[in-house]
Amino acid sequence: MTIHQKLRGVTLAEIPPYIPNGNECQLFEMAWVRQLPLLLKGPTGCGKTRFVSHMATRLGLPLTTVSCHDDLAAADLTGRYLLKGGDTVWVDGPLTKSVREGGICYLDEVVEARKDVAVVLHPLTDDRRILPLERTGEQLEAPPGFMLVVSYNPGYQNMLKALKPSTKQRFLSIEFDFLPKAQEIAVVAVESGLDEARVAPLVELAAKLRRLKGHDIEEGVSTRLLVYCACLIDSGMPVRDAVRAAIIEPLTDDADVKLALTEVAHSVIV
Ligand SMILES: Nc1ncnc2c1ncn2[C@@H]1O[C@H](COP(=O)(O)OP(=O)(O)O)[C@@H](O)[C@H]1O
Ligand SMILES: [Mg+2]
Repeated sequence: MTIHQKLRGVTLAEIPPYIPNGNECQLFEMAWVRQLPLLLKGPTGCGKTRFVSHMATRLGLPLTTVSCHDDLAAADLTGRYLLKGGDTVWVDGPLTKSVREGGICYLDEVVEARKDVAVVLHPLTDDRRILPLERTGEQLEAPPGFMLVVSYNPGYQNMLKALKPSTKQRFLSIEFDFLPKAQEIAVVAVESGLDEARVAPLVELAAKLRRLKGHDIEEGVSTRLLVYCACLIDSGMPVRDAVRAAIIEPLTDDADVKLALTEVAHSVIV
């Protein structure tokens, strides 16, 4: 297929590149066809958001992304009455808009949101597929073209912020992890423009640092950070400086840990 051929109305060049780690693309398509909600779990920077935008473009669907945070309440998703020139008017939130118009609604880091969000998601994620809007008295039925996708990072979970089983068990789920070396090298090379031979030691270093997760550092190096690092090197920065700015500093604030990580880095990158 040439890059200019169209797939469901989109040229391939317009599709955000995504290298699969398993059967996740087929699973997504089936979930979409069968109108099932999908949950993506995995560490930060391993490709969850990219996967969703890749699939949305591939399927020719509008995508609404909401980054959830600990202040995000159900009304931020559904909507609220606002004062406009003396009148109170109802303004749809992003979830309501997406249910009305169809397409994919992606709630990133959904565990961060307030508890009342689950109440809104439950009727949307069983076979009723409805979104009750208490304030307006409406009950919206999700059209066949609507799909709910949520993601979370199980590594960040604490007891207060775990997804309840009653919520988890409403979604098909895919576990994401960092790609095997060869594929991660390919991703970082494509994203940064740096050639694969120069990307390879960075991925090697990442593998070493990921083994330290839970000991000196909370999270392993993400693919995102490797892309940043490769971009700096591709722009002409000396490798060691790029590694410090894009890998060591983002991973830790502790001076001793930095020193230890730098030693590991220098053993891999000369
Ligand atoms: N499988 C993949 N295919 C293509 N790019 C990827 C892949 N995994 C990670 N990336 C790169 O890593 C970056 C971070 O991924 P992202 O989807 O934002 O992570 P997450 O949402 O899991 O935190 C992306 O912008 C992309 O450059
Ligand atoms: Mg993301």
